[in-house]
Amino acid sequence: MSSPRALALLAKMTLAEKIGQLVMVAGTHTVTGPVAAPDLVLRVRQARVGSVLNLFGENETQALQNVAIRETRLGIPLLFGLDVLHGFKTIFPVPLAEAAAFDPDLWERTARAAAEESVEVGLHLTFAPMLDVARDPRWGRICESPGEDPWLGARFAEAKVKGFQAPPHGIAATAKHFVGYGAVTAGRDYAPVDMSERALQEIHLPPFAAAIGAGVAAIMPAFTDIAGVPVSAHPGLLRGLLRERWGFDGVLISDYNAIAELIHHGVASDLADAAALALKAGIDIDMMSPAYEEGLPLALERGTATVADIDAAVLRVLALKERLGLFDARRREMPKKDALANRRALARDAARRSIVLLTHREPVLPLKSDQVIAVIGPLAQAQRDMLGSWAAAGADDETITISESLRAALPNAKITFARGTAIDDGDASGLADAVDAARRANVVLLCLGEACHMSGEAACRAIPELPGRQRELAEAVFDIGKPVAVLLSSGRPLMLPWLFERAHAVLATWFLGSEAGHAIADVLTGRWAPSGKLPVTWPRAVGQIPIFHAQRNSGRPENPADSFTSKYLDVPNSPQFPFGHGLSTTTYAYSDLRVPESGSLGKPVDLSVTVANTGTVAGEETIFAFLRDVVATVARPMMELKAMAKVALKPGERKTVTLQLTPGAFQFFGLDGLWTAESGDFEVLVGPSADRAFLLFARIQLT
Ligand code: BGC
Repeated sequence: MSSPRALALLAKMTLAEKIGQLVMVAGTHTVTGPVAAPDLVLRVRQARVGSVLNLFGENETQALQNVAIRETRLGIPLLFGLDVLHGFKTIFPVPLAEAAAFDPDLWERTARAAAEESVEVGLHLTFAPMLDVARDPRWGRICESPGEDPWLGARFAEAKVKGFQAPPHGIAATAKHFVGYGAVTAGRDYAPVDMSERALQEIHLPPFAAAIGAGVAAIMPAFTDIAGVPVSAHPGLLRGLLRERWGFDGVLISDYNAIAELIHHGVASDLADAAALALKAGIDIDMMSPAYEEGLPLALERGTATVADIDAAVLRVLALKERLGLFDARRREMPKKDALANRRALARDAARRSIVLLTHREPVLPLKSDQVIAVIGPLAQAQRDMLGSWAAAGADDETITISESLRAALPNAKITFARGTAIDDGDASGLADAVDAARRANVVLLCLGEACHMSGEAACRAIPELPGRQRELAEAVFDIGKPVAVLLSSGRPLMLPWLFERAHAVLATWFLGSEAGHAIADVLTGRWAPSGKLPVTWPRAVGQIPIFHAQRNSGRPENPADSFTSKYLDVPNSPQFPFGHGLSTTTYAYSDLRVPESGSLGKPVDLSVTVANTGTVAGEETIFAFLRDVVATVARPMMELKAMAKVALKPGERKTVTLQLTPGAFQFFGLDGLWTAESGDFEVLVGPSADRAFLLFARIQLT
């Protein structure tokens, strides 16, 4: 229902003013930060722009806002948006890393902090959370996503939407990229998508449904097509599913230039055609394409667009502006300035909880305080490369490096540094020095991985291994025979079987943000027992992709004794590390899984399990509950994540933890196109990861 103010404004608007509300234009980047170029100021003055992206700063936004409010006929305020994915100024871990914390409360708190910092610089809207289920490490955007699992993605969606939009300093969130973008062909960005209705419903849609359930203000359709229909011109998905079936009444914002790109897709012949298709499908705001401004008037003349659709879009944009309080003369109350220290502490906590101890073959952690430690590799002194792909206003020089933080954490250790080689060029002139430093040390920390620009949008890699000559460096260091712990910076799983074999320990340190160095030092020195777990299955080889835990059994499941079963000749089926994998410097034992023998469809099921800390240091463990519908009208995955819990345990302590399977956990997308649960046996698998060898099993019969 539109407000009287919005309806009154609409009644006064000319066609050009209406279209202006549907146009989003970018600020210009300069060395001193973003500015509103004269052309943008002019367009705002002419009421040809309704919202602006990539412009922030209290003064910069206010100056342009004043033009919109004071110098246009109707004085409608602008909406300012930016990609605040994992922090604005204080940068938190990239989403894939933060997902590894499996901690909705943390996800919410970091989003809330990012929103506060955004409000301080005049922003109203973020193009986040990114909710694409991603199962292909070649795709650079896997690092922006919460990983491979729809249930996990849904929890991430709820937490992020709640956090970003939390009053009193909330901003509007945008769930993106709706939908199926994670399934781009061959892991190549922007490439076509083909998928079954089942995959769409069961894998890719649930995080978006959860975001809508949490009240997300906006949704951004993906750049890509699904089976030949670009999502930006997909009436079935946008109007039919989002608006009519799910009742989403927020704003649909196109991706950058995506409406004009309908011409490249080959479904529109010119801008008017493209604009008509997008509007008809339901897109309200045209981000950075000329389609709505130039094309809609012509489309109206041609009769391919209607004023009624334009009006409806304008009313949704005005409703968002009202919801954000933009029409209120009263200035928004700003967050307290002393929040900065708290945000850095939060960033450190988020970062250390995101680190995943992948291997620990020989006891090398925690580091002792009185030894000679050689910190080697191109990422040891990196700053920008600690931040990740959407670092907004994160400052490189406010980012703590690994070697700097280690020196501070271990003042009695002798810490030497050698770069060895660059991240990705052929310069290996530092190799000899690095080998020398390793020889003189008791222990080596090898800081390897990707530059942060190698993950993210348009950053796909057909061979996701160590770039440049880093392997040569690593092998030379391993050959010396000293204990080596590897810190692996990346926005994706990297396929490095040789490294996992040779290193004493490997930690996935992703792109952890402003406090990366301190967080890594916390883990290396034993101040924090590693607790992160993989939100994505880590392949051994590119040929295994896509690989994920929720696979179906097939009619010929792998059998080593039978060659005509589902397997490779050259690589095992099993991943390098399963979903949920993550070691610690302590150990846990699971016992006593209790699941009722029977239950009723439509009712939740409570189960419990006992977890003991069997090691010598305190730690936090994430417990997973997976489900398998044993026999159904549709073959179901061998396991699907349906619940999780966290427990903090002191050495020797044990706790019994309860997890709940909701009625929805037992449902699937039925042959009749409806979500359904069928009576029969369900297998419940509970444990530390998706590795069957460590899971406790029980059965429940539902009628
Ligand atoms: C990306 C979006 C982003 C937008 C605005 C696009 O290229 O796909 O994720 O929100 O740019 O920066």
